[in-house]
Amino acid sequence: MARVVIKEAKGPMELKPQKKSVFICMCGLSKNQPFCDGSHLKTKDEKKGEVYRYNEKGKKWIVVMKKIHAAVKKAKSVVAKINKYKIPSKLL
Ligand code: FES
Repeated sequence: MARVVIKEAKGPMELKPQKKSVFICMCGLSKNQPFCDGSHLKTKDEKKGEVYRYNEKGKKWIVVMKKIHAAVKKAKSVVAKINKYKIPSKLL
């Protein structure tokens, strides 16, 4: 089974009050879930509006948003053509 988890957090969530701070991973990359292990540092160069995928070793390997935008644009143009198509009256 594979899974893509989309998260935009670039750091942990701090729980208070406690004698010692506990940091909960909010980026989804920690190997020590639910606790932060510093893996969020890999997200520092991520750009807003893009989707990044990481393999199980935590290595970023693809940015897919440009391909998704192109596919959506193409699908919209196909839908527009379909909507303009007039069904011959003998088929109605
Ligand atoms: S917030 Fe995820 S590893 Fe730190």
